[in-house]
Formats: sequence, structure tokens, C-alpha cells
Amino acid sequence: MKSALVCGAGGFIGSHLVKELKRQGFWVRGVDLKYPQFAETAADDFIIGDLRDPYVCRAAIDRKFDEVYQLAADMGGAGYIFTGENDADIMHNSALINLNMLEACHKRNIKRVFYSSSACMYPAYNQEDPDNPKTHEDSAYPAAPDSEYGWEKLFSERLYLAFNRNHGMECRVARYHNIFGPEGTWEGGKEKAPAALCRKIAEAEPGSEIEMWGDGKQTRSFLYIDQCIKGTILLTRSDFEGPVNIGSEEMVTINDLARMIMDIAAKPLGIRHIPGPVGVRGRNSHNELIRKRLGWAPDEPLAEGLRRTYPWIAAQVERKRGRNARAAA
Ligand code: NAD
Ligand code: GDD
Repeated sequence: MKSALVCGAGGFIGSHLVKELKRQGFWVRGVDLKYPQFAETAADDFIIGDLRDPYVCRAAIDRKFDEVYQLAADMGGAGYIFTGENDADIMHNSALINLNMLEACHKRNIKRVFYSSSACMYPAYNQEDPDNPKTHEDSAYPAAPDSEYGWEKLFSERLYLAFNRNHGMECRVARYHNIFGPEGTWEGGKEKAPAALCRKIAEAEPGSEIEMWGDGKQTRSFLYIDQCIKGTILLTRSDFEGPVNIGSEEMVTINDLARMIMDIAAKPLGIRHIPGPVGVRGRNSHNELIRKRLGWAPDEPLAEGLRRTYPWIAAQVERKRGRNARAAA
């Protein structure tokens, strides 16, 4: 039986990845500070531990694994990474996790390690035009990410590739572009735009307004979780080390995104634009490289993923309303 270790298995992408690896017949160990928030883990074994501690990393790798997926990170959406208030934690926590995990894998002679970098590592100067952002893999330098989160990702992807060159490892590096779907963070400050807007629309009274940070003309692309998992596993098992984008090429404005969700919810609402952390003006995935090297690229329309995500978030909102009403009674 093949085996896999998933670091960050209590998080959004990690918990979905564990499910898929189990579906494929793997024995799976998860590690995280916490269990998944919205469903039981599908992992065979789950270690609650802090991967900033090198001894926890070594203990998690007390056996051989065919595949290791390193997704653990201190991360969040624009409201977490662009305010500046979390910069020291983000850099310190995530860098320690990556340094420790890679060292532990190397010591145990584990070769195949997947690392989840981010589109946030691309230079801000190529993402000023909302209609024509540039995120080709070879456009990373001169480096100028717009957040410390992006700088840490850039450092860590270089670290994984250096271990390939100097220690004969076979790490694989992907640059994810804004992943969304059910069982992702939808409130609390770390949620990203798709979840935040689904929540606001679900909470809004008919005929009222939702608040949106910025003028709504900033652009992004959003990738549904199943496509992210497919690309992650394909890359990990391929002969290509990356870095490679895993993202959607369907670029929309944040206003468009909100309107798509309102259509799905059948709830036409106004939009009030307010100041907030906005990040780069435009971002989209470029998928020529993934198509060429993996013979595959994400192709699912955004609306399909939103149709699966909105009802899940609306149900969370309803559940919370029920809890609050019972508490007030
Ligand atoms: P997430 O926050 O849901 O999951 C990350 C998990 O890491 C969390 O469960 C957290 O508890 C865990 N973690 C944090 N610090 C830890 C520590 N010290 N020890 C053990 N576990 C720790 O995030 P996600 O959306 O699932 O993202 C997974 C990975 O993909 C991250 O590396 C993230 O930076 C990257 N990424 C995600 C997106 C996205 O849109 N979701 C985009 C680009 C990159
Ligand atoms: N989160 C959020 N909440 N964003 C909003 C909101 C809101 O209520 N209203 C408008 N926005 C805008 C943000 O200001 C930003 O311009 C845009 O929607 C997208 O925000 P996010 O989805 O939070 O983040 P991001 O796309 O800037 O960055 C995300 O993607 C990266 C990969 O592409 C983050 O999740 C990063 O952690 C990730 O690496």
C-alpha cells in the first residue's frame, strides 16, 4: 500500500487532499495544529503537532512515505496578509515549518515532496494593469512581491529547489492562484474573496447592500478545490519540478465575482465600496507551462465551482444564525 504524509491536513486544501489520497487507496498520515474544522479527517493517522518544532517534524516522519505534501503555512486572504499586522508571524512561522520539514525529509531519505507556493510571489510591478497582469513562471525576477507572505513563498520555493540540486531530492513546487470551495475558511478574518462574498450575500437582507473592499474593478482568477487537488497530485507524480502555476485563466473583476454569486443565490443586492486591504490591481493564471509539462490545465468554469460553494456557505450562515438565536432565547 502506498503512503503519504500531508502537512497542514487540518486546513482547507490539506483536508481535501487527504480525502482524495484515501480514495486512491493510500495510507495517509495528517499533521496540523488542529483537526479539520468542518468534517472528520479522512486520514488513517493524525498528529496534532507544531511543525515549527523540528522534533515534531522528525516524529511525523518516523517511517518511509512515498509522497509528502507540505501545505502547512500561516496564511489567509487579503484581510490577513495585506494589513501588515501579521508580517512577522507569517514569515517566521512559515519559514520555520519549511526549513524543518525539508530537513526532516532529507534526513529520512524521502525524495518526493510537494510544496505549495503562491501567486503572491510574483512581482507587484507586473500586476498593476487589471486587464493584463503578467504571472508567467519566468516573470518572477527581478523579485518584488507585494507582501511578506509572497517573499516567504519565494524564499521557500528556492529552498526546496536547492535541496533538489544539492541533496538529490525530487521536490515539486506549485504556485497556487486563489483556491476556493466548500469546507474553506468563510469567516474570522482569514477568508478570501469568494468565501467572504458568499457569506456577505447569504447574510444580507433582500434588497440591501453588501460591503466590498476597494472599487471592485481589481481582477483575480479563482480555482475550484477539486481542480487544485488534481493539479497537485499530477505535478507531484510527474518528472517536472516546477515551479508551475496551478490556477484558473478565467479572470474576473471582484464586482463580477459578486454578481455571479448574487445570480446563484437569486439575490440581487447593491454593492457599497469601502476602503480595505486590496493587494495587487490585477492577477490571473497563465497556464501554457502546466499544459506543456503535465498535458493538463484547469478548465472548469468559475460559475460551476461557485454553484457548489455558495450553498455550503449559506448553510454555515444559517447554522450560525440558529445557534445565535438559541443562545439569545
Ligand atoms: P489553511 O490555512 O486552510 O491551511 C493551512 C494549515 O496549516 C492550517 O490548518 C494550519 O493550522 C496549519 N498550520 C499552520 N501553522 C502550523 C504549524 N506551525 N504546525 C502545523 N500546522 C500548521 O490554508 P489552505 O488554503 O489550505 O492553504 C494550504 C497551502 O496552500 C498554504 O501553504 C498556502 O499558503 C498555500 N496557498 C493557498 C492558496 C489558497 O487560495 N487557498 C493560494 C496560494 C497558496
Ligand atoms: N478577503 C476579502 N474579503 N477580499 C475582498 C473583500 C472581502 O470582503 N471585498 C473585496 N475583496 C477584494 C480584496 O481587497 C482583493 O482585492 C480581492 O478581493 C481578492 O482578495 P482575496 O481573495 O482575499 O486575496 P488575494 O487574491 O489578493 O490573495 C489571495 O490569493 C493568493 C494566491 O493567488 C490570498 O489568499 C493569498 O493568501 C494567496 O496566496
